Amino acid sequence: TKPEPLKIMISGPPASGKGTQCELIKKKYGLVHVAAGDLLRGEIAAGTSNGKLAKEYMEKGMLVPDDIVVVMVKERLLQSDAQENGWLLDGYPRSLSQAKALEDQGIRPDLFILLEVNEDALLERVVGRRLDPVSGKIYHLEYSPPENEEISARLVQRFDDTEEKVKLRLKTHHQNVESVLALYNDITVKVNGDLSKEEVFGQIDRHLSFLIEMKSKADSSS
Ligand code: AP5
Repeated sequence: TKPEPLKIMISGPPASGKGTQCELIKKKYGLVHVAAGDLLRGEIAAGTSNGKLAKEYMEKGMLVPDDIVVVMVKERLLQSDAQENGWLLDGYPRSLSQAKALEDQGIRPDLFILLEVNEDALLERVVGRRLDPVSGKIYHLEYSPPENEEISARLVQRFDDTEEKVKLRLKTHHQNVESVLALYNDITVKVNGDLSKEEVFGQIDRHLSFLIEMKSKADSSS
């Protein structure tokens, strides 16, 4: 029988590298990347009423209300691709109430990854970040520059990527992170996110391979 697919959560302050690591994890492990922020930006781009409301909160660096976010994320996780291949949940849950909403649905991850990055580095990462609207890939003008002129010309910046807004986002993160961590204490790994993206991935990769090994041992002995 096929082993149970992996269920992973990744958390960390704004611009700590969650999206960047998710691209690498997805490539190696085939998990479905579900990012709360990307789902919200999708609603904004589609011009829905939820998107319009969400944008007001995102512009202030505040959490979007649960009545928008909770259902949106739950429905995405329950889609068949995530159920069959496993999921990688990025930027969710961000509050105790969101974590409890998942517990109520019986949704619990195998591992909770917390990226830890020095605050000065976060500011530099935010202001230099650019996104490719065509591929969805994340770049940084200095640390992960675009491969060619064509990509470089089409890069865009996120509306909440200013120094002023990232300070508000950081404050929101600090207000909420402990309450979420408390719920996942026994399955949390803290990863040093100050290193290069390859070195950060190296740490995560070791945790994930170990987890897969443990899961397959448990499956074969049951
Ligand atoms: P969200 O989109 O989740 O933003 P965030 O948490 O602030 O995280 P980011 O996407 O900014 O950064 P990241 O950690 O993915 O970093 P990245 O890999 O891009 O949320 C946005 C807003 O939506 C929130 O403020 C809130 O309003 C709302 N929201 C979202 N989830 C919600 C929820 N659950 N409930 C309610 N509201 C919610 O990297 C950043 C930059 O650094 C890039 O340029 C990258 O190239 C570079 N970089 C990455 N790794 C490295 C490295 N190791 N070394 C050097 N540079 C690096």
